[in-house]
Amino acid sequence: MRAAILIVLGLVIGILGTVFSMNALRERNPFPHAVMSVMAHHAGALSAAVKSQRCDAAQSQQHLSRLLETSADIKEAFPGMDAPFLDEANKLHEQAQAALTAAPADCKALAAAIKPIGEVCQSCHQQYR
Ligand code: HEC
Repeated sequence: MRAAILIVLGLVIGILGTVFSMNALRERNPFPHAVMSVMAHHAGALSAAVKSQRCDAAQSQQHLSRLLETSADIKEAFPGMDAPFLDEANKLHEQAQAALTAAPADCKALAAAIKPIGEVCQSCHQQYR
């Protein structure tokens, strides 16, 4: 009985230890998390603008260019990923570039511009997140 309890205790401690060290590893490299969070911030601001029907062209331009710049960091933030992952990252970069070039001046244009961006986010997350 005592041995069984000790074994269970050992297992629990082992699992806890693994979880703690995995969290520590994650925190040691905050870069991937940071890249995603920054993109989420700008994508979120853009879709909030569409939802509230307040689409300022200059502000949209700013969020799109920050999103574009940040998407260029994906490759560096996730080293050693396979080619399809890098394709998704490139696709995001292209879509953000296209949206920026389209210079959406109203909510209808902005909604159309950010739709393909959201689709790439989703597509990559479905495969890799
Ligand atoms: C090329 C693939 C790829 C693309 C494109 C991508 N993501 Fe991610 N994203 C990931 C991966 C992989 C994770 C999981 C990262 C981790 O757990 O360390 C993630 C995680 C996240 C997270 C959670 C971050 C965290 O650590 O808490 C957010 C938010 C996020 N992505 C937002 C976005 C947004 C917004 C877009 C589109 C503008 C986007 N992502 C596009 C691969 C991608």
